[in-house]
Amino acid sequence: MFRPSRPGRLVALIAAILIGTAPGSAAVTPAEALVAPAFSRSLIIPKVLTGANITLTAKVANVQILPGATTRMWTYNGTFPGPTIRRPTGQTTTVTLINSLPAAAGELTLHNHGNHSTADSDGQPDSLLAAPGGGSVTYTYTGKEAGGNERGALQWYHDHRMNVTGRNVWMGLAGMYIIDDPADPQTLPKGVFDVPLMITDRSFTSTNQLNYQFNANGVIGNRILLNGVPQPYFNVGDRKYRFRILNASNSRSYELALSNGQAFTQIGTESGLLPAPVRRTRITIAPAERVDVVIDFAGRLNQKIVLQNLAATGSLSQLMQFRVTRDLTETSSIPSRLRALPMLDTTSAASRTFVFGRTRFGGIWTINGQPFDPARIDVQPKLDTTETWTFVNKSGANHVIHIHDVDQQLVSRNGVAPKAYERMKESWDLGIGETVVLKLKFTDNLGTFVFHCHILEHEDAAMMAQFEVLP
Ligand code: C2O
Ligand code: CU
Ligand code: CU
Repeated sequence: MFRPSRPGRLVALIAAILIGTAPGSAAVTPAEALVAPAFSRSLIIPKVLTGANITLTAKVANVQILPGATTRMWTYNGTFPGPTIRRPTGQTTTVTLINSLPAAAGELTLHNHGNHSTADSDGQPDSLLAAPGGGSVTYTYTGKEAGGNERGALQWYHDHRMNVTGRNVWMGLAGMYIIDDPADPQTLPKGVFDVPLMITDRSFTSTNQLNYQFNANGVIGNRILLNGVPQPYFNVGDRKYRFRILNASNSRSYELALSNGQAFTQIGTESGLLPAPVRRTRITIAPAERVDVVIDFAGRLNQKIVLQNLAATGSLSQLMQFRVTRDLTETSSIPSRLRALPMLDTTSAASRTFVFGRTRFGGIWTINGQPFDPARIDVQPKLDTTETWTFVNKSGANHVIHIHDVDQQLVSRNGVAPKAYERMKESWDLGIGETVVLKLKFTDNLGTFVFHCHILEHEDAAMMAQFEVLP
């Protein structure tokens, strides 16, 4: 059974669906907030925390997002995005979440997305919660995986509370988390040339406040923010930069391109570096996906290059502007081999199929016909075995399916062998009618983990299931 966190929520949800509010309708605001001219503010790089013991306090803060009035947000440590956590692989990190939000926000839980966390530290949606009024939970991340260190990657942390993740993330509860790995090539751009970029969309009221109207089809914003700034510019030198790009939007996908037609060199995904770099001129990035790219500004001194979003028009198609203002010496290079994929067993201990659908009446999203129930375990893989999971989208809408705990390797998409840039990931864009076949090996961690659609309103409207890893 679907369990509303508050009475009446299910009814409201069904009503919203029956009224037939289409995706994007929540973006319509009665009065438009002020728009600054494009590329008038500099990109902000979120503060970086590197300590072994980190505290994230969820609290209200007034953040300058648009010109004029500040926006009242739910933040980690007072900023949006939250601080970037940056830790060496193989070392233990604790993150303590303190819930200092108003009581109306309810209990919180923090998920380190992409991390190989134990079940107790995974940010379960309906247990081990931080109560309002200063309640706290400490999560411990070992940095270890499958007998070695966890792979270097751009991860991110965000609230994961059942039924309200979409609202909570929209209000501001998200930040980036980088694992640095000495086993990755060390010649890639580093330091100030290694830039994390969080893309989100939001809608604002005429007084610059966040406008969130739940819609089970997904909530789309009418402003796009890069690290919390609408259409920023970023001064660069004429050399290579690494951009670790995260789509932290609730439901919007982007198609990234550069205005001068130049290619990105993609070096990584959610699961760390690719076996070899791949040149791409267009990159689709769905919610929760990451692409790790290098852009080479060599020979472009004094040029302005726009990072575009070809999936939209008007100001929504102009994400940010690179201004090549400095003559710099190149100190980096991209090796032709980056990082081999881990070997998985060739035989599978089990093959399972998950069909993504929707209930006939009420429109609740389902996996194998069932809405999420935290009390139900859907499948029970065995520790240290490899399984084959097939995802089939029969719902008539796009989904992005994310599996917690371990990375997955793609066997095929619609019967075709994987593209070089999507061989290993943990969030899978699953278009209407598409089928993906994945292999995954359950290492180290026993216990219960979720998998779900990362269009956050689909997740909140019950498109989530659980697996329990048994000895
Ligand atoms: Cu980013 Cu289960 O989530
Ligand atoms: Cu996750
Ligand atoms: Cu979905």
